[in-house]
Amino acid sequence: MRLVPVLSALAMVLLGFVLGFTFPASMMPNLQCGVLPWSGSSAANSSSSDGSFLGRLWAPLFRNSSSTSNATSGIVNAARRPEGAGRLPPGIVVSESDLHLRRLWGSPTKDAPVRKYLLTMAVGYKERANVNATVQKFSDKFDVVLFHYDGHTTEWDDEFQWSKEAVHVSARKQTKWWFAKRFLHPSIVAPYDYVFLWDEDLGVENFNAEAYIDIVKKHGLEISQPALDATKGHKAYDVSVKRNSGEMHKTDAGGEKCPDVHQRPCSGFVEVMAPVFSRDAWRCVWHMIQNDLVHGWGLDFNFWRCVDDPEEQFGIVDAQYVVHHGVPTLRDQGNGEKQGSRAKVKDRQYAEMHAFDSRMNNADKELDNSTARSSSSQP
Ligand SMILES: *[C@@H]1O[C@H](CO)[C@@H](O)[C@H](O)[C@H]1NC(C)=O
Ligand SMILES: *[C@@H]1O[C@H](CO)[C@@H](O)[C@H](O)[C@H]1NC(C)=O
Ligand SMILES: *[C@@H]1O[C@H](CO)[C@@H](O)[C@H](O)[C@H]1NC(C)=O
Ligand SMILES: *[C@@H]1O[C@H](CO)[C@@H](O)[C@H](O)[C@H]1NC(C)=O
Ligand SMILES: *[C@@H]1O[C@H](CO)[C@@H](O)[C@H](O)[C@H]1NC(C)=O
Repeated sequence: MRLVPVLSALAMVLLGFVLGFTFPASMMPNLQCGVLPWSGSSAANSSSSDGSFLGRLWAPLFRNSSSTSNATSGIVNAARRPEGAGRLPPGIVVSESDLHLRRLWGSPTKDAPVRKYLLTMAVGYKERANVNATVQKFSDKFDVVLFHYDGHTTEWDDEFQWSKEAVHVSARKQTKWWFAKRFLHPSIVAPYDYVFLWDEDLGVENFNAEAYIDIVKKHGLEISQPALDATKGHKAYDVSVKRNSGEMHKTDAGGEKCPDVHQRPCSGFVEVMAPVFSRDAWRCVWHMIQNDLVHGWGLDFNFWRCVDDPEEQFGIVDAQYVVHHGVPTLRDQGNGEKQGSRAKVKDRQYAEMHAFDSRMNNADKELDNSTARSSSSQP
């Protein structure tokens, strides 16, 4: 009788030891959903969960997560369970996952390991040739997720071998940001060092994903995009246009439209069509995506909130660049709908941008108010 508690205590310690030792990174982000009071709030009312504030507040907790590879910290972290897991013994709680396919047979420990990086794209079958060309530029260090907005999924397997190893998620007429909010929760993409969230209409002749990541790592870029070859495709902002002077650039200092380089889009800025996020940055950006604003307009002007030093940690990679073809696949989906049209999709995009801006302004003000209140109530 007396042996039982002793044994189970011992078992807990051993479990903690094994977990702490084997999966150090998976233990830290238990905090992510669990202890934070805002985790359950609805997105429409999310004005209080300001990205920058939370990003700054919590980022340090996660930033060093992979370096806590030691048994003691394993036990300590296991004790902080996510909300809902309180009834479970900590050692069984797995609060993170990935988007890697496993086989149905063999030992799970011998399954092919999760890849280091993640490529996600919103795609339609019509654009498959370009999507194939893009995927070819990503090595086998990437897990691949395709978000299908046109209902065609299995057809891809018939044409492309790589498609059989990709995750396919299908929901008609939904946008990249709609998919990202629903299927790229930070706890699901936690194992990936970098997340690529790309459109399907990019020309990738002069792009290689691993070479890109080398540059991003070397320069410590938390949020980045490949430069745009404006001689061949669209450009919306001067800052993202390819320069010939180096591997990458961070600002449009001296640019015609940038008398103040500290303003967006002159620095701390990437566009929404081909962003690349570090794990930490994505953890923050995901929270900033509004549940109901599906076009994501306005996010690009606020990504800067998700890093410590936007002018240093944002970059446009010149050495690996793309062409933006600007295929209007999204707006075209408004056509043929009873209550939709190209023009109405466009209207919604602008309306969403204004809605996002005003939510962000209110959230900033609310935060200032509460900061002012709490500091004035200090003795
Ligand atoms: C936001 O919260 C308020 C008060 O908590 C509630 O009355 C309102 O319906 C909420 N709005 C949405 C869109 O959820
Ligand atoms: C992360 O760890 C390094 C060394 O292990 C330390 O110098 C740094 O301050 C830590 N950063 C944070 C945010 O705790
Ligand atoms: C484990 O971490 C604790 C506190 O973080 C530290 O005191 C201890 O020395 C570490 N042990 C090893 C083996 O690194
Ligand atoms: C996919 O792209 C590769 C590289 O560009 C090409 O060799 C291959 O033929 C393409 N596959 C199909 C089915 O078009
Ligand atoms: C902030 O406080 C001011 C003055 O107390 C008030 O008028 C305003 O409505 C508050 N704004 C928000 C967003 O709470």
